[in-house]
Amino acid sequence: MPSPRLALIGAGHLASAIVRGLLAQKIFAPGDVACTSKSGETARKLATDTGITFEPDLPKLLAGADTILVAFKPQSLAGADPRLADLTAGKLVLSVLAGKKLARLAQAFPRARNLVRTMPNTPAAIGAGMTVYCALTPLAPADRATVERLLGALGQFMELGEEHMDTVTALVGSTPAFLFEFVAALRDGGVAAGLPPATAQKLALESVLGASRLLARSAETPEALRDKVTSPNGTTAAGLQVMAARHFRETMKETILAGTRRAGELSQD
Ligand SMILES: NC(=O)c1ccc[n+]([C@@H]2O[C@H](COP(=O)([O-])OP(=O)(O)OC[C@H]3O[C@@H](n4cnc5c(N)ncnc54)[C@H](OP(=O)(O)O)[C@@H]3O)[C@@H](O)[C@H]2O)c1
Repeated sequence: MPSPRLALIGAGHLASAIVRGLLAQKIFAPGDVACTSKSGETARKLATDTGITFEPDLPKLLAGADTILVAFKPQSLAGADPRLADLTAGKLVLSVLAGKKLARLAQAFPRARNLVRTMPNTPAAIGAGMTVYCALTPLAPADRATVERLLGALGQFMELGEEHMDTVTALVGSTPAFLFEFVAALRDGGVAAGLPPATAQKLALESVLGASRLLARSAETPEALRDKVTSPNGTTAAGLQVMAARHFRETMKETILAGTRRAGELSQD
């Protein structure tokens, strides 16, 4: 086996998205990445599909890797191979385990060179993710470059203090679901107004997509762009009046606060 520079422990949906992004952007060659998983099933498949190495022997896998990406489910951490504590000594360990705090990761990987907790979201699967990360100790420049190269394969990234991670879990992790719900609600509105469902969904989706792109490219605030579309007494104004009367802003604020509270509860272990 060639000496891999990146080892993945867990090879499911998110790990697969990361590997595909890294290879597509030529950040790593297939020979520089190796993986394992609990049963070996997902890791073997990922290796077959992408050309990376499947290495079921944990000491061998980790011996050649400087950076370790831990990508199993959060609930699997308690039952993870205890040899990881020593095998990750001196290495940079990144975790994508939702809700697992740096202090908890430090128990599992006590001898790591540094630990990075990340919170990606599902658009990462198409390279359009938003990932927030925090590190146990200030990242050395070379380690920061490694972290950002890896996370860059998933889309955009930002470093924030760990105290914000519960909010990030709600705002970054859950926003795809909130947006899907919003598009479904727009579609239902179109259907209520007489459109066929498939047509209403296409119109809602493309409008959300185009408006999101416009906002992303613009230097203006969402409010400024909203005002540009809103003529006095016009169609948009009529709709916005209903949104205000039904407390849309308050509802979304409560949505994020509820998600933040729940993320906080789930990360207490
Ligand atoms: N999916 C997302 O968009 C997303 C977003 C944010 C965060 N996350 C985080 O990403 C992590 C993985 O999620 P996922 O959706 O990719 O999960 P998944 O598709 O279910 O994959 C889980 C992987 O972990 C492996 N595994 C389970 N227990 C293990 C153990 N003890 N040791 C080594 N490998 C083990 C599984 O191996 P086998 O099945 O082969 O046995 C499988 O490869 C989670 O912690 C989640 O919080 C995911």
